[in-house]
Amino acid sequence: MAERAPLHIVILAAGQGTRMRSALPKVLQPLAGQPMLAHVLDGARALSPAAIHVVVGHGAEAVQAAFADQQVTWVEQAEQLGTGHAVAQAMPGIPDGAQVLVLYGDVPLVTPDTLQRLLKAAAGGCAVLSVRAADPTGYGRILRGQGDGRVAGIVEHKDASDSERAISEINTGLLAADAQRLRAWLGALGNDNAQGEYYLTDIVAMAAADGEPAAAVVAGSESEVAGVNNRAQLAVAEREVQRRQAAALLASGVTLADPARIDVRGQVVAGRDVFIDINAVLEGTVTLGDNVHIGPGCHLKDVQLGDGTQVHAHCVLEDAVVGADCSIGPFARLRPGTRLKGSNRIGNFVETKKAVLDEGAKAGHLAYLGDATVGKRVNISAGVITCNYDGANKHPTVIGDDAFVGTDSQLVAPVTLGDRAYIAAGSTITKDAPGDALTICRARGQKSLPGWKQPTKDSE
Ligand code: UD1
Ligand code: CA
Repeated sequence: MAERAPLHIVILAAGQGTRMRSALPKVLQPLAGQPMLAHVLDGARALSPAAIHVVVGHGAEAVQAAFADQQVTWVEQAEQLGTGHAVAQAMPGIPDGAQVLVLYGDVPLVTPDTLQRLLKAAAGGCAVLSVRAADPTGYGRILRGQGDGRVAGIVEHKDASDSERAISEINTGLLAADAQRLRAWLGALGNDNAQGEYYLTDIVAMAAADGEPAAAVVAGSESEVAGVNNRAQLAVAEREVQRRQAAALLASGVTLADPARIDVRGQVVAGRDVFIDINAVLEGTVTLGDNVHIGPGCHLKDVQLGDGTQVHAHCVLEDAVVGADCSIGPFARLRPGTRLKGSNRIGNFVETKKAVLDEGAKAGHLAYLGDATVGKRVNISAGVITCNYDGANKHPTVIGDDAFVGTDSQLVAPVTLGDRAYIAAGSTITKDAPGDALTICRARGQKSLPGWKQPTKDSE
């Protein structure tokens, strides 16, 4: 079998995307939490190409900056003179023995399977990706030759006759071709057409004239090859990506209360028998252990949850590592730097930030733990606040194992409580409290004034 030609992928991303009505270049519009172009690059990389060439024009600097860490060749197209002109700009960087695959930066949903079919059909020659469109208005139409069904040409909507406009098989714009032949065809392109542009699609008629007409590979569905030109199409693409993410989670054994009501904007790795209730938003990298349960309306970003941990309704967790068998929420907020070592309980209206809670420590209600190190089995009662910020700097609070911090106490950092320290309710602790002792600090001793009268309303 002949060795496969090295694959060079050209991604067209120079267009302005006027219809987005955005300051952001179109290919940087977020789709499932990533710039649209990132999805196209992922699809391209899945084909293990020798090189990826991205043609940029409008917003080129912003696009390049957004992908500064990526192995791609940037090609500037200063003026957008058409898709053929755009591909021609990349050709100097592509050797003759290569196979070229042209992708669009604004067609983000095409699957590697479909692209493989296209590459196979193009081997040694040329193939275009087409699809049957319910409404072909605006697209280039595929002109199939008599008999063999290969492609005689592509006619743009604006250049098409009425009978050509009746054709429902449209050009998706994606194609693959032998580099040497493509180079020759691109060199021969003219711009004598309705839009005064160098049409990439004209190479298809050239291939037919050479006696080796292009093949057309029909995509599985319109949604897979849909272009994103405006916010409505972006929203449709977002739903399609989310549908795929949900399907992948279900296939991996996760139970979703409703696959249509989960949004994954990043990567989720889940163990066995995970349950996710409705309206979860999962961002960044989310790792869920076995038997994790996520309640309705939770937002998790860059979070790791240990086996058996339950996150109840309406919690927000970011950059947190949670051990096994913890119970969080409802209505809890774990901010960056939170580490729960295991069997912890964080109840409603508790906020943590840069807080490390050792095994079994709990804060059941209405508390703030910031820059805190909390020992094993510590009880943080309702209304406890670590006063970690003096207006200029943050200070640490350290609480020893088995300590008890009574209701409505303030721990003014820097401060340390020893093992088994017991802080009386309502104390404002400004100095270290020893272990194995009750520490109490209230503003005044409690008094009762007999005969005291409640205030009454002023009479009119
Ligand atoms: C193109 C195809 C049409 C197809 C349609 C599918 C041509 C001539 N026509 O039309 O057959 O049905 O796509 O959506 O190819 N771009 C550049 N530089 C340019 C021009 C375009 O980078 O000079 C990029 C755009 O950013 C976009 C892509 O190429 O990502 C397609 O360009 P667009 O102008 O949208 O092509 P259409 O006219 O829609
Ligand atoms: Ca267009």
